[in-house]
Amino acid sequence: MENNSTPLIEIESLTQIFGNTPEKVLPKVNDGMSKSDVLATTGHTVGLRDINLSVNRGEIFVIMGLSGSGKSTLIRHFNRLIDPTAGKIKVEGEDILTLSPKELIQFRRHKMSMVFQHFGLMPHHCVLDNVGYGLSIQGKKPSIWKNKAKQWLEVVGLEGYEDQYPSQLSGGQQQRVGLARALCTDAEILLMDEAFSALDPLIRYEMQTQLIELQGKLQKTIIFITHDLDEALRLGDRIAVLKDGEMIQVGTSEDIILNPVDDYVRDFAKDVNRAKALKVKHIMERSKNRVIDCDSAEGLADAFKKHDILVWTKSNQLQGVVSKNRLAAYQAGRIDSPLLHQSSVKEKDYLQTVLPIALLADHHLLPVLDSDNQVIGCLSNDAIAEVLSPSFDAA
Ligand SMILES: Nc1ncnc2c1ncn2[C@@H]1O[C@H](COP(=O)(O)OP(=O)(O)OP(=O)(O)O)[C@@H](O)[C@H]1O
Ligand SMILES: [Mg+2]
Repeated sequence: MENNSTPLIEIESLTQIFGNTPEKVLPKVNDGMSKSDVLATTGHTVGLRDINLSVNRGEIFVIMGLSGSGKSTLIRHFNRLIDPTAGKIKVEGEDILTLSPKELIQFRRHKMSMVFQHFGLMPHHCVLDNVGYGLSIQGKKPSIWKNKAKQWLEVVGLEGYEDQYPSQLSGGQQQRVGLARALCTDAEILLMDEAFSALDPLIRYEMQTQLIELQGKLQKTIIFITHDLDEALRLGDRIAVLKDGEMIQVGTSEDIILNPVDDYVRDFAKDVNRAKALKVKHIMERSKNRVIDCDSAEGLADAFKKHDILVWTKSNQLQGVVSKNRLAAYQAGRIDSPLLHQSSVKEKDYLQTVLPIALLADHHLLPVLDSDNQVIGCLSNDAIAEVLSPSFDAA
């Protein structure tokens, strides 16, 4: 229990300065001197500045940011491909900066595997050997690692390429070899640096789907770098945004879309297809103000003093949506039912799937149900229209 609630990875006050004497430059960086001023006055590059983050077990944690913002630099600290100028990196509570060289080798072999931005394959080894390398150096028998490597090559769609060499493959194929290699080691933590960037859109989408399925099945913890916000939104439980080596926002997809902290994040989020990225639960009215429970439609009369349209439930079972006019017509005997409609949506539905329902005539309000089919609030067309308008920003 305690193990699951403590973060798997914790990064504390991590700073990385590139240059000949980073320790001498550190005080200036700590004092807040800008990246460009540090470069101009000292010739050092601020790679990362005072990064604090934690990654939970089993989550897909996405790191985004423009080219040069420090994404690769940050992920390379997780398995100590580089050591920080200052700060701490803890995995399962253990400070990995204190690992001896031997322990570090074990840690890299068993705990984390990485898919590199530029593939990082061994050119003089065939595809099968590249994929099985991690297991072979763990001391597994060739019959075992070869078999497993074959299976992962199938998963990434490269069956039949076992004996080819990396240079004989396209960029996208090499990237998939890198992915198969990382998955083949059984490491609990996967570090993926732009792991899908060389893939064409169709295969990229397929790989994302596979990664999500795999994560669900194997409960891996994945740190995933991407430039592409659509990819980030699809994969990420949480998304961190880097700018000039600083972490400027960490949040869920909807935080990033609806509450960007500044223009840099807003720019990332502006072209996102919100209908595809946001769910009903993100914009619904969660209060029961417009959900009235009573035995007969007549019981709604009081609530109609404040609202023109309401969701009616009877013993907490959804009856339908009723409007003031419709109820009046029903009471006057002009129509047979007080209900405007009986449609509803689920809180987990993407806006995209509820749009056709919402657009139907008279559906100004839709009841929202949870996974137990209980009414938990309502969704208005106004809320949908507002969030889908290009200028909308909750902040
Ligand atoms: N070994 C190094 N020596 C000096 N500077 C470096 C080194 N590695 C990275 N940097 C600098 O650190 C900053 C961040 O680089 P990094 O490669 O982490 O960016 P990135 O966000 O991964 O970019 P991209 O999207 O292009 O891959 C850049 O300013 C870069 O010039
Ligand atoms: Mg990079």
